[in-house]
Amino acid sequence: MTSSAFPETMFAPSADPTWLLTEEGYDPLRESSRETRFAISNGFLGVRGERAFTRGRRWTTPARTYVAGLFDRTGEAGGVPVLLPAADWLQVQLHANGIRFVDEPADVPSHRMDLDMRRGLVLSDCFHDAGPVRLRVRTLRLVSLHERALGLQMIRLNILEGEATVTLEASLEGIDHGLTLLTGSPDLMTWRTRRSGIALAMTAGAALKIDGRTEPPGETGPLRSSWTWTTRPGQVVEFERLVSLARSPDGAAAAATARAALKRAQGRRARGVVGDHQAAWSERWAHSEVEVDGDPAAQRALRFAAYHLNSAANPDDERVSIGARALTGSDYGGHVFWDTDIYLLPFYCHTWPEAARALLMYRHHGLEAARAKARAQGWSGALYAWEAASGGEEATPPSTVAPDRQVLGILTGLREHHVSADVAYGVWRYWTATGDEEFLREAGAEILFETARFWASRAVPEPDGRRHIRGVIGPDEYHETVDDNAFTNVMAAWNIQRALDTVELMRGRWPQGWSELSSRLGLDESELDQWRDAAARIATGYDPQTGLYEQFAGFFGLEPVDLSAYAGRSVPMDVVLGRERTQRSQVIKQADVVALLALLPDVFPGGSGKRNFLYYEPRCGHGSSLSSPLHALVAARLGETDKALDYFSRTAAIDLSDTTAAVGGGVHIGALGGLWMATVFGFAGVAFGEDGLHLSPRLPSGWTRLAFTLQWRGRRLGCEILQTARRVTVSLDDGPSTVVQIEATRHPLEPGRPINAAY
Ligand code: BGC
Repeated sequence: MTSSAFPETMFAPSADPTWLLTEEGYDPLRESSRETRFAISNGFLGVRGERAFTRGRRWTTPARTYVAGLFDRTGEAGGVPVLLPAADWLQVQLHANGIRFVDEPADVPSHRMDLDMRRGLVLSDCFHDAGPVRLRVRTLRLVSLHERALGLQMIRLNILEGEATVTLEASLEGIDHGLTLLTGSPDLMTWRTRRSGIALAMTAGAALKIDGRTEPPGETGPLRSSWTWTTRPGQVVEFERLVSLARSPDGAAAAATARAALKRAQGRRARGVVGDHQAAWSERWAHSEVEVDGDPAAQRALRFAAYHLNSAANPDDERVSIGARALTGSDYGGHVFWDTDIYLLPFYCHTWPEAARALLMYRHHGLEAARAKARAQGWSGALYAWEAASGGEEATPPSTVAPDRQVLGILTGLREHHVSADVAYGVWRYWTATGDEEFLREAGAEILFETARFWASRAVPEPDGRRHIRGVIGPDEYHETVDDNAFTNVMAAWNIQRALDTVELMRGRWPQGWSELSSRLGLDESELDQWRDAAARIATGYDPQTGLYEQFAGFFGLEPVDLSAYAGRSVPMDVVLGRERTQRSQVIKQADVVALLALLPDVFPGGSGKRNFLYYEPRCGHGSSLSSPLHALVAARLGETDKALDYFSRTAAIDLSDTTAAVGGGVHIGALGGLWMATVFGFAGVAFGEDGLHLSPRLPSGWTRLAFTLQWRGRRLGCEILQTARRVTVSLDDGPSTVVQIEATRHPLEPGRPINAAY
């Protein structure tokens, strides 16, 4: 009798196609970007979406497993630490009468791969009709959101025709990618990174069933097993492999953790592991789903964004953060930028505060390194690394090879200082979104004080009576070493003001905590006076006559370039114009004053927000994926919904449409966070005041309905906007009563009594 360990339905993608990303066939030029899109991750492990059976590494970057925090200096990237790949635990080779099965077009007439975003897993389905047997191959893979150490691979073979001797060998590939092998036994391997000394352990258990009967494996080496049998038409073969990985400073501890996780999983069996994982995803979706009716492409883009955002974070590990490509590719060496603090935190603060907290604790642990960086440059306080790896030390490579093959020095690590204010901005957002007093007292306040202290020293008083911040790089990295970048300066002043607010708050609420922290940091009244002076006198570049911020001193005098003349270009503007001319021109790499408008709309009095947008938008070349989402957000707030939708679609296309060459290096997680921001803060017009949620919807004309959930100060709020009826419903799904302001009208919101109001 035939019995099956896993039901066939496990291999069936979700029935609702809006939850799926499906790619069929084979295109060697798109394999690498598909691997990025179809990556699975749980914030600890990340696995690129490679095909199940590949022949070597001809076209694609290796299918790699990334482990958060596994950084080491390799000699590449100018000697800075980069994220190392772990061994690829999905390797399977299948031979029939000695002929190897490979997922390539000549042998596989149809191949379909689905990223099932609802369930958080990747499925594939293909028929193979070369060689002595004809078979259908279905696969499933996941890294568990329930138990982050775990990966599961399942393969189901239906033998359609042919009798042959078949061998299935499951092994690891890339066991020595920059790591030193410490131990290898049949079920466990351990490694150590060469310089940073981090231990990694991997343990696995694999099983094969033929028509429901478990076949004993022939083991051929560490984490390597093989089975040989004779096929017959109608046969069902099921392969399953569970792996567990652990990272630790100590090899034995890593091994013990990995073994324990595997043991727990084996007790739950594959079906239990899949069930637990799906339940964890359901929980995430309950908090973070955004529904759009009337625009299926936007719906898919927002699901894709939330899928990768939910995949990227790990609330249980505050020693790691999220790199610019999350755990989906090797670009930027896994480094953490301001992307996390500015573009990712809003999503986490309002859908997954525990994940946001862990990301901020990572910044708190990085304070010592940030203080050392400030000191080394002659400043006080904390200057965060522009690019950080594990400990928070500066990890920006000293140089790069430009598109024209010149070796270029990279100055961002030395001069892109706004990151310190961005970190403070993230702290403040989290604090105001959650009211997490313990965090503010134990960690957030210290970050705010040390970054404020940095800015007060960095903004130097000059004879004109102002304080100036000279020699920086703002978000627009085309212009290096500028004075008084408006974004930097205004964010710096804001950072100092929030630190002063926190001083007052602590003095009033936690006098003991204030006296301990202020004496530990050596903060006294005269320094606070310096802060007050700095916040009041930092040059902002704002001209009340025109209502414009000058992006940096001298920007208005640079050469204007008509970017519309370059519409349709496929390379960034600095490549089109050359580096020197770009630096002499008003061409901007990415949202800079517009980024300020997105983050601090209140510093744009009257109609000056619109004026600045109209001035800077045509000057922006969008040379970073971070640019279009903030333009979408600002345009939506200004009521320019068509333009906003255009920027929204451009952002969505970055990872979904292969419009840039860089997708193979990993998803642009900051842009995906920005897509969520554009939707919630832009189209829905969400803002939070001291009293509660404010909503001013401005949906694109095709979006008939927009619905989402938000967390705010211990409450869960369900929001639904119906465009045709021009009505908003807000429900309080959890937590105490509050107030919601829809356009100009305030409404009390109580449990069980949703607000339904016109807008
Ligand atoms: C952008 C930075 C960004 C980095 C990582 C650069 O191209 O200019 O703002 O932080 O990419 O995403």
